[in-house]
Amino acid sequence: MTELGEAVMEAEDLARYYSVSRGWLKDKATVKALDGVSFTLRSRSTLAVVGESGCGKSTLARQLTLIEKPSGGSLRLLGQDLSQAGDKERRLARRHVQIIFQNPYASLNPRKKVGALLQEPLKINTQDNARQREEKVRMMMGRVGLRPEHYSRYPHMFSGGQQQRIAIARALMLHPQMVVADEPVSALDVSIQAQVLNLLMDLQEELGMAYVFISHDLSVVRHIANEIMVMYLGRPVEHGSRDTIFNQPRHPYTRALMASMPRLNPELRAQRLPLGGELPSPLNPPTGCAFHTRCPLATGECAQTRPALRTVANRQVACHYAEQVND
Ligand SMILES: Nc1ncnc2c1ncn2[C@@H]1O[C@H](COP(=O)(O)OP(=O)(O)OP(=O)(O)O)[C@@H](O)[C@H]1O
Ligand code: SF4
Ligand SMILES: [Mg+2]
Repeated sequence: MTELGEAVMEAEDLARYYSVSRGWLKDKATVKALDGVSFTLRSRSTLAVVGESGCGKSTLARQLTLIEKPSGGSLRLLGQDLSQAGDKERRLARRHVQIIFQNPYASLNPRKKVGALLQEPLKINTQDNARQREEKVRMMMGRVGLRPEHYSRYPHMFSGGQQQRIAIARALMLHPQMVVADEPVSALDVSIQAQVLNLLMDLQEELGMAYVFISHDLSVVRHIANEIMVMYLGRPVEHGSRDTIFNQPRHPYTRALMASMPRLNPELRAQRLPLGGELPSPLNPPTGCAFHTRCPLATGECAQTRPALRTVANRQVACHYAEQVND
């Protein structure tokens, strides 16, 4: 593993609330889609963000890629504080943080050939002439495993895995410092997933950028992550190094996610901490620990007091009983 580099992004207490109308009276309510996320992301490293549908992963992605403005907290990119930045500064900063989506086809203009699609970011952001642009595009195509003849084909002529390669190439055209990948392999056949994950790891090794890799599936992030942050209803519940989280998860929710993973961690599966119950509505989250309605270890205290995120055994964890949850 390459040595970790400089801090690319620092998030502190990042939050994003949405105002929504509910019920037939259309009264206003607030969804705390993201509430209190902090991390430091270094070059050449990958932070995986994991949790069930609706826990705020894509909301986090939109804040980190500067598509939206957070409701609270601070975000620094390459040392620059973006919480205070104006529209122009945010626009300039955006080239350093690119995003890859779950569905590559939806993110590629179907009317443009691959060559033109990949040239677009260069056209907008650089002074390169047509020959220089083509040269850079062809070089990037080679890097992501596309063949020269693909240059003049349309996106629909490719398989899902190849379309994701095109989307990755496009995201990398401006050599961003950081890439946020939001479920980048979830829509692909299992046999193709490993190829795309390996490609992302090779590109990181070669180009040195940092990744935030979002997935609902812990097993997908096992090889690519340096750090793992597990989220529940907009909040991080456990955050630590990949090995710490996989080998000794302390939060009952992390343990439940692992227990439900096929092919993984037989001891944890044997302990049977199944993920029962329904995910509560984010419009009306449970009091105290948001996980208490589904947690097999919940006590009266859990329904009353929200556990703070604190350091226990080399990771951050938000559970009153993190010391007791042990292997
Ligand atoms: N623009 C919005 N307006 C109102 N509520 C929103 C908005 N965007 C997201 N939400 C709500 O915020 C919560 C988090 O949504 P988000 O899409 O970030 O979850 P996710 O973890 O990406 O889920 P999935 O795994 O399904 O992609 C959800 O309850 C969602 O309904
Ligand atoms: S604080 Fe209580 S409800 Fe929440 S995860 Fe820990 S034991 Fe479960
Ligand atoms: Mg999402």
